[in-house]
Amino acid sequence: MERVLSAEASSAAYPAPLRTGEAPGQAAEGRRPWRSVVGRQGKAEAPEKLALRGIVKSFPHRRGRLVALEEINLSVREGEFICLVGPSGCGKSTLLRLIAGLEKPDAGEISINGQAVDGPGAERAMVFQENALFPWLTVLGNVEFGLAMQGMGKRVRRARAMEYLAMVHLAPFAHHYVHELSGGMRQLAAIARALAVNPAVLLMDEPFASLDAQIREMLNAELLRLWAETGKTVLFVTHSVQEAVRLADRVVVMTYRPGRIRAIIELDLPRPREEGDPGVVRTRLAIGRHLREEVTRALQEERNHAGRT
Ligand SMILES: Nc1ncnc2c1ncn2[C@@H]1O[C@H](COP(=O)(O)OP(=O)(O)OP(=O)(O)O)[C@@H](O)[C@H]1O
Ligand SMILES: [Mg+2]
Repeated sequence: MERVLSAEASSAAYPAPLRTGEAPGQAAEGRRPWRSVVGRQGKAEAPEKLALRGIVKSFPHRRGRLVALEEINLSVREGEFICLVGPSGCGKSTLLRLIAGLEKPDAGEISINGQAVDGPGAERAMVFQENALFPWLTVLGNVEFGLAMQGMGKRVRRARAMEYLAMVHLAPFAHHYVHELSGGMRQLAAIARALAVNPAVLLMDEPFASLDAQIREMLNAELLRLWAETGKTVLFVTHSVQEAVRLADRVVVMTYRPGRIRAIIELDLPRPREEGDPGVVRTRLAIGRHLREEVTRALQEERNHAGRT
């Protein structure tokens, strides 16, 4: 069934064009000279923001342990947009949870700005697939929540929350409750909440997976605009190769169990990226090939496993 936003919601929440203008207030401070919506000018000069060195993570499993991640090494530059793709169960969410400090690795080190990660911190914010907003709070209340947790006074945090709601075009919905918003608007509110605490790294775990293709495409454009305006470093998990190619500076393809990095594909393509552009098509096919092999391997292993039990 086709999902249609109300006229008010669609015009308020999804302005069409990408723009590179400065964001209001503090958000603009994160902007860097190498940031560009239309290219990767000087991105290689950006300092390292996030480093993953020799990450291993396992979980108790039946009588042994399941190695979810093995030898993950990745260096992410400031302001980079990384997409993580891989078959279901390869450890994408686990990796994000480790970076968020919600879990600890068995071995290896995660650092942000050269500082080892040891537990959750305000410099990392997560956006989940859905249902991450508090239903008993208004949209404004949700965005203010993290700021209140940081001890910010009421007047300042209200102004800050409104600034970020305006940034995602949800200011007219500030006093609505979550159930009054469409799925796409909820995800925008979750993004505003994450950005409002001014994290250095934004961790996004399939944030648009439950939305239909058209809304997803619009939110991809919105996210690129916010990314350009705020200069954030983004790690974005998706199952959609199309979405990854639309968004990323680099796409990291993971292997199925244990999750390792199979390939890293650099996308030196201008944005916005047209679906039919030869470079976009070529990149999509290349990533698709890697992913298909891993998904086939995952299915095969699951079949073998089912045969043994
Ligand atoms: N807390 C946990 N306890 C035990 N096993 C876990 C735990 N968390 C994750 N796992 C296992 O680790 C592996 C990786 O899980 P994870 O959720 O990170 O995969 P994923 O790549 O995010 O998958 P999906 O694409 O389906 O979201 C899976 O086999 C999962 O069952
Ligand atoms: Mg997951």
